[in-house]
Amino acid sequence: MASKDTFTIAGERSELPHRGDAVTMPARTRSQFRLVSMPAHLWLAVFTVMGLGTSTALVIRARRARRRWPEPVSASNAVGDQACLSCHREKASFERTAHRLTMRPPTRDALIGSFRPGENVLRVEGTDMHFRMDADSTGFYQSLVTGTGPDSTSRTERVAFVAGSGRKGQSFLYWSGDRLMQLPVSHWTALDRWIGSPGRARIEASASFNRGVAPRCLECHATWIEPIPDLQLDNRYRADSAIIGITCERCHGSGQEHVTRERSFFRHVGRGPGIVNPARLSRDRTMDACAQCHGGPGDPRAPPFTYVAGRRLEDYLHLIPRAADEAVDVHANQVALLERSRCYQSSQMTCITCHDVHRPQRDTQEISGRCLTCHQPQSCPLFATRGAAAIKGRCVDCHMPLETSHLVVSDLEGQLMRVQGRSHWIRVYPETAGH
Ligand code: HEC
Ligand code: HEC
Ligand code: HEC
Ligand code: HEC
Ligand code: HEC
Ligand code: HEC
Ligand code: HEC
Repeated sequence: MASKDTFTIAGERSELPHRGDAVTMPARTRSQFRLVSMPAHLWLAVFTVMGLGTSTALVIRARRARRRWPEPVSASNAVGDQACLSCHREKASFERTAHRLTMRPPTRDALIGSFRPGENVLRVEGTDMHFRMDADSTGFYQSLVTGTGPDSTSRTERVAFVAGSGRKGQSFLYWSGDRLMQLPVSHWTALDRWIGSPGRARIEASASFNRGVAPRCLECHATWIEPIPDLQLDNRYRADSAIIGITCERCHGSGQEHVTRERSFFRHVGRGPGIVNPARLSRDRTMDACAQCHGGPGDPRAPPFTYVAGRRLEDYLHLIPRAADEAVDVHANQVALLERSRCYQSSQMTCITCHDVHRPQRDTQEISGRCLTCHQPQSCPLFATRGAAAIKGRCVDCHMPLETSHLVVSDLEGQLMRVQGRSHWIRVYPETAGH
């Protein structure tokens, strides 16, 4: 890995030093210096002038760097997607992507599960408990009902946020005062069923409604929320500060300076674009920009929501390295799997070699076309034996198959259900030969 972040902005190269960088002078250069005999006061004058020059240059450089690199986005400096789209209209398709829709307020449009009587119940096998999902003009609710008839008791909570675009499933969050909690019941798209929220092998464990939502969950599914510092609890937030779902500025940095610049008459005078374009970063930093959410949970090294693309992720979040033979789950860790692929190791491939995150990414046939930027269909031995028609547009089906996650496990009326994910370990899966 490079020890310094080098990237090019508007034709200039600039570097962001990071913690741990030390400037050392190679021995050969040192021996090249020779002492020239000169009176002491002349030396002093020379050093003063040099010193002033250097510090002025450093100050100017630091100010330019600060001005050029955007802040991480927060409630106080966000301009919002509509402002971006007023100029970048060609990116409007982003509003329909899984990123944008990954966390939303509860509305009929956002919720996939059925609230119709008969379809709105999840029984808890072997007990007299069931969960019920209700909707009325005041909102959407989950209740735990214990017992039957007049003797039944219930606890009800109101859905505050819907988590998940619905590609695989949706979970629900609720407020308990200023504490953000996860509701016990989720919805599974492929089965079109209500199901126990993943992570609890048995749904009874959720009956106490006691699962707090830590900042890392929102770092991956939201743009910003302000945590309330508390030594005991890590799930207290200022509700009115929340920007849910992933917006343009979550990946590009706060747009405040960029928008001011683009709207000003002197916009091209001396300043950088004031926004991050991940395509201009080094390969490591491009990977970091996705790895903050697609590299697994990780150990935080800085407060949540302080990372901005272009910085070195390792200074903010330590991703747990995986041994080559250790199993990596297909859920939320595409980075570790991709890194195992020969394609990745033998090329300059990054996530954006295949993905345009401004458009929905569901078309495996289209993505199979990306393979052909480096490969020929003929490089697959099956081309010779089965012919072009059998493999064209299908590279992904056999070399990046769907696999079952062992992390995302849910309880459905006593049965354990596992979600499927796309393997990002591109390789030969011998079992696909017969497909
Ligand atoms: C007033 C119009 C305007 C608005 C609003 C605007 N942009 Fe831009 N943006 C531009 C123009 C013009 C360029 C090309 C600038 C150049 O080439 O110097 C640009 C360039 C960019 C780039 C590429 C920068 C680079 O280094 O290649 C990104 C990324 C970007 N904008 C993202 C955004 C985001 C995100 C927002 C919202 C926070 C936004 N823009 C809002 C006009 C705008
Ligand atoms: C490290 C980042 C990360 C964390 C932490 C995280 N997720 Fe996710 N989550 C993802 C990614 C990435 C996906 C996309 C699918 C995949 O990779 O399996 C996802 C998928 C989901 C989905 C399915 C979405 C769909 O429609 O397919 C739900 C629901 C979800 N997450 C809820 C949560 C909740 C609730 C929390 C916290 C309590 C959480 N996630 C924590 C990154 C994360
Ligand atoms: C998930 C991260 C992510 C989000 C969210 C995101 N972008 Fe990007 N954006 C990227 C990456 C990566 C690139 C560089 C590769 C590329 O061009 O696709 C990029 C490039 C760009 C560029 C410069 C290249 C070009 O095609 O002109 C603009 C402008 C831009 N994005 C605008 C936006 C706007 C506007 C939004 C919101 C509507 C947005 N982006 C949301 C990751 C993101
Ligand atoms: C702030 C966290 C975050 C960042 C940064 C991020 N992602 Fe994601 N990404 C997610 C989550 C969460 C999901 C799951 C959304 C869902 O379905 O609810 C997701 C889903 C996706 C998907 C599936 C899209 C689909 O149409 O189903 C792709 C592909 C993807 N991300 C690629 C990328 C790439 C490439 C980058 C880097 C340029 C990136 N992401 C950066 C959080 C993030
Ligand atoms: C950025 C270039 C690039 C892209 C895009 C790419 N590959 Fe590769 N791939 C390579 C390189 C380089 C190798 C290694 C070749 C070697 O070592 O001889 C490789 C190797 C492979 C191998 C052999 C792996 C092994 O473990 O032996 C398979 C299979 C493969 N690629 C399939 C694919 C498929 C399918 C896609 C699209 C989903 C794809 N590649 C996309 C560059 C790429
Ligand atoms: C060689 C091409 C390729 C590269 C490189 C690549 N992906 Fe994908 N990705 C795909 C394909 C193909 C799919 C499947 C799309 C579908 O099924 O809808 C996919 C799906 C996804 C999904 C949805 C996951 C799921 O289980 O449904 C996420 C998230 C994602 N990619 C993130 C990333 C990230 C992050 C990177 C970089 C670490 C990356 N991808 C690099 C080809 C690629
Ligand atoms: C029906 C499943 C299937 C499809 C579709 C498929 N492959 Fe393969 N591919 C295989 C299998 C199986 C092997 C291993 C065959 C062998 O070793 O005899 C393989 C081997 C390869 C290799 C490795 C060759 C080597 O020398 O190690 C590459 C590269 C490759 N495929 C690329 C592709 C590309 C590119 C496409 C899309 C145009 C594709 N494959 C479509 C099943 C498939």
